[in-house]
Amino acid sequence: MNKDKLLILGSGYTGQELTRLAVNAGYTVVGTTRDEDTREFLRSHGATPIEWSVGDDPAPWIAHLGPKTSVVYSIPTLFRSYEGADGGDLPRHITPMADVLTECRQAAVKRVIYLSSTSVYGDHGGDWVDESTKCHPSSDYGKMRYDIESYLMEAETDFPITIARLVGIYGPGRTLIDAIKQGRYTLVDGGKKITNRVHVHDIARALLAIIERGPDSHRVFNITDGHPQHVRDLVEFICDEAGLETPIVESLDEFARRRKSANAVARWKKQIRVLNERLRRELDLELVYPDVFSGYRAILESDADAPVST
Ligand SMILES: NC(=O)c1ccc[n+]([C@@H]2O[C@H](COP(=O)([O-])OP(=O)(O)OC[C@H]3O[C@@H](n4cnc5c(N)ncnc54)[C@H](OP(=O)(O)O)[C@@H]3O)[C@@H](O)[C@H]2O)c1
Repeated sequence: MNKDKLLILGSGYTGQELTRLAVNAGYTVVGTTRDEDTREFLRSHGATPIEWSVGDDPAPWIAHLGPKTSVVYSIPTLFRSYEGADGGDLPRHITPMADVLTECRQAAVKRVIYLSSTSVYGDHGGDWVDESTKCHPSSDYGKMRYDIESYLMEAETDFPITIARLVGIYGPGRTLIDAIKQGRYTLVDGGKKITNRVHVHDIARALLAIIERGPDSHRVFNITDGHPQHVRDLVEFICDEAGLETPIVESLDEFARRRKSANAVARWKKQIRVLNERLRRELDLELVYPDVFSGYRAILESDADAPVST
């Protein structure tokens, strides 16, 4: 019996898939959430739910920290706008993660994993990027993420910190299928954008691989299938496979006027192709869904809301 513990701060979509795999692998899993349905999900999958919101008393989850505990931080950045990181005080967007790190130091945990995003790379004009590529984030989210990553990579700790840079997550219950079906999806800028994707099941497997055989020092990993596609090709594939009409095209200007979100527009302008060599080589991980087509095919062939098999 595996006696190691896993604390997931933010048991959302990824956290729940990780819970399922980790419980199956014999871990004692504890997860925070503010949501009753998620608490029920965690209970029914053999995990312990804790009701907690950033800013609440952390005592309920601190009780689960110790030398055999790995901690996964899966809470998004909590602010929409970037306020800089040059002042004397710790910027507000770093504080929640920094507070967690303080508790992890006190308890001398086994490892901390921070779920970040490839938005930290910024726009590279469609070039390939790996973990050694210089980051110049353009979106507010990307800048906040990069500050948090830098804070963690510079932190002196007795345990390793791993940054997991995620690309666009998809999986059962989180696809473009319903939006296309209901006419809510448009092909922004003709779908020319390059999209980098990873199936939630492979993210959970990657996180488990980091917990089980990750490096002993601080390290960054891109978590992606490594087969970027043009949005149009993905959408046309889904429409062909599911027998749906191809969505209408919307210009970037029309999209910007409709969404009124600088972060959303920045996402459509950013062009990168994300490599996953480090993930596959250093963690010896073979992906179950090596490209988004295989992942979508599996979802379309099964009940879209059913959990994927291990
Ligand atoms: N979705 C993507 O394509 C994508 C791409 C790159 C990176 N990421 C990042 O990867 C991580 C996992 O993504 P995901 O899609 O699995 O996330 P998700 O489903 O949105 O889950 C986020 C979790 O964070 C918790 N949370 C949010 N605000 C909180 C607060 N103020 N206090 C405490 N908990 C809070 C949520 O709590 P409740 O359970 O109470 O809702 C939820 O458990 C996130 O950090 C996300 O930003 C996502």
